Amino acid sequence: MMKIDRRSLLSSAALAFAAPWPALAQTAPAPAPAVMSLLHARAKTALSGVWRYILDPYDVAARKPRQRRSFWLDERETPGGPLIEYEWSSAPEITLPCDWNTAIPELMWYDGPVYFHRVFQAEARPGLRRHLVFEAVNYRAAVWLNGEEIATHEGGFTPFSVDVTDALRAGDNWIVVRADSRHHPAGLPSVDFDWKNYGGVTRPIWLVETPDTYIEDAFVRLEGEAIRVDMRLAGAAPGGQAVRIAAPELGLILRGRTDAEGRAALTARAPQRLRLWSPERPTLYDVALSAGADVVHEQIGFRRIETRGRTLLLNGEALFLRGVAMHEETIGENPTRAVSEADAIALLETAKALGCNFVRLAHYPHAAHVARAADRLGVLLWAEIPVYWEDVAYGDPTTLALARAMMTELVVRDRNRASVILWSVANETPPTPARTGFLRTVIDDVRRLDPTRLVTAALDKNVDIGGARDGDSRISVQDELGADLDVIAMNQYEAWYSRRSPGDIFDEVTFSTVYDKPLVMSEFGADALAGHRGARSERWTEDYQAWLFEETLRCVDRDGFAGVCPWLLKDFRSPRRWHGRFQQMWNRKGVISERGVRKQAFDVLRAYYQRKAGG
Ligand code: GCU
Repeated sequence: MMKIDRRSLLSSAALAFAAPWPALAQTAPAPAPAVMSLLHARAKTALSGVWRYILDPYDVAARKPRQRRSFWLDERETPGGPLIEYEWSSAPEITLPCDWNTAIPELMWYDGPVYFHRVFQAEARPGLRRHLVFEAVNYRAAVWLNGEEIATHEGGFTPFSVDVTDALRAGDNWIVVRADSRHHPAGLPSVDFDWKNYGGVTRPIWLVETPDTYIEDAFVRLEGEAIRVDMRLAGAAPGGQAVRIAAPELGLILRGRTDAEGRAALTARAPQRLRLWSPERPTLYDVALSAGADVVHEQIGFRRIETRGRTLLLNGEALFLRGVAMHEETIGENPTRAVSEADAIALLETAKALGCNFVRLAHYPHAAHVARAADRLGVLLWAEIPVYWEDVAYGDPTTLALARAMMTELVVRDRNRASVILWSVANETPPTPARTGFLRTVIDDVRRLDPTRLVTAALDKNVDIGGARDGDSRISVQDELGADLDVIAMNQYEAWYSRRSPGDIFDEVTFSTVYDKPLVMSEFGADALAGHRGARSERWTEDYQAWLFEETLRCVDRDGFAGVCPWLLKDFRSPRRWHGRFQQMWNRKGVISERGVRKQAFDVLRAYYQRKAGG
């Protein structure tokens, strides 16, 4: 039986689909990182491209193996012989990565398991290790290599890897991936969420090569006046290895040696010549990380993000977050989940055209190249895991283990990205003891993995605090979880989900929080069908959406918010949006349509951000 790499076990902390998975002990350390933290910096062979697929809508292969649908076997090596009823060599083709919903029109509404198969060449590479890396499979994955199961993973938006050095053959290798898009009550998200559930191998697949002993993870950052590096080696001999970190432009060289566990922690005073990263000046430095034969280069921006009372500070200066939220979905007539680097840049450039210095990557980890592009473009980011709404099984230890694994995979993948300033642990969750205990465990993990960033969560408002007069709403965030957060974020939809008449939000509503911490309005908005015009009091029109933006932004200024993040940049697919004239399974709160057509609210927001930027 193939040795399953501990990382893929840890990263699939909540089981895929076999025997119950022992939940991680409450006090267990956060799961170990995977090799993905340096994936972009490594020599790798793309396994993306043309694969073949078989649908298994009744899940027969996993439930009834005696019926000889062992799709993980190649027919040339299948014990069922001529009795089997499948043949990979004649199965239909599909190009990965993709979501099958938009790649194959007949599968727009398919939600279940699909098996993917391809053959690839490998040659013997003595002294090197090879790792299979999946950047994302939505929602649960299983992987077989040459007929042996080598990895399982749950979670549609974070990477997983497995060391296949001993399983690869010289010459032909065949790989089968099962992607099962179905969500379940103990999953994340659970079974109800306001976006299209795009199924598939939705991000690239790689065969990564490393030396026998290699740098599994390196966290490089500015902490106070010091540059700190935490390194972890893995492979044949991680302990007692000499390590070296060099930043030539800074005249900086750090040297050390790993301990018995393969870890090294190095620090040096930050040089005077260091130019701090900021949206206005996104300075990145080449940092060479080496350990024995392994050398990888990271592009690092050094900056500080802190809070002081109600104020956010970037590099010691007050910061107002001119934000917008976005789902991971391309701009175009037939938007897809598989967002290429070019697609990601198009989305971020649209946000910059709005005058944004900040983007909320909702409601799950976006592709790794988004934060790398934001590092270069100078866009601050909020990153989050899909602990979303009240349906999450907050009392289930496997769900907690899954949340911890997802958060660890996200933080370890992106903690070298200067653009990421906020880790968010949840969106609109009920203030129950089970939810608060659940999230406090996740927050503890985040603070252990990354003491340099701020922690937040998009909280629900507690309406009408303090004897509001009729229609006079004092909307305040009082959620006990706020005590554990650095930044208080509030989602509110006054004059869209409230009964409020389209009068003046500004005169009727005040927003506040009981915490002396920065308050960000992490969502507000209204649906508007692009091109549908009318009175400013007429719901579903661009005019109404623009009016609501104007009124709400006046409140943002009046009530001392440290930032605002309208919901959201672009209309997106959602099976929860049923209005026959204005939605047709699209959530239309974008300031641009799915095709990129700008609505009136785009201009309102851009004008506001120009004023906030002092333009
Ligand atoms: C919700 C949620 C979003 C959703 C939005 C809306 O509160 O956070 O995921 O799309 O508000 O209702 O449009």
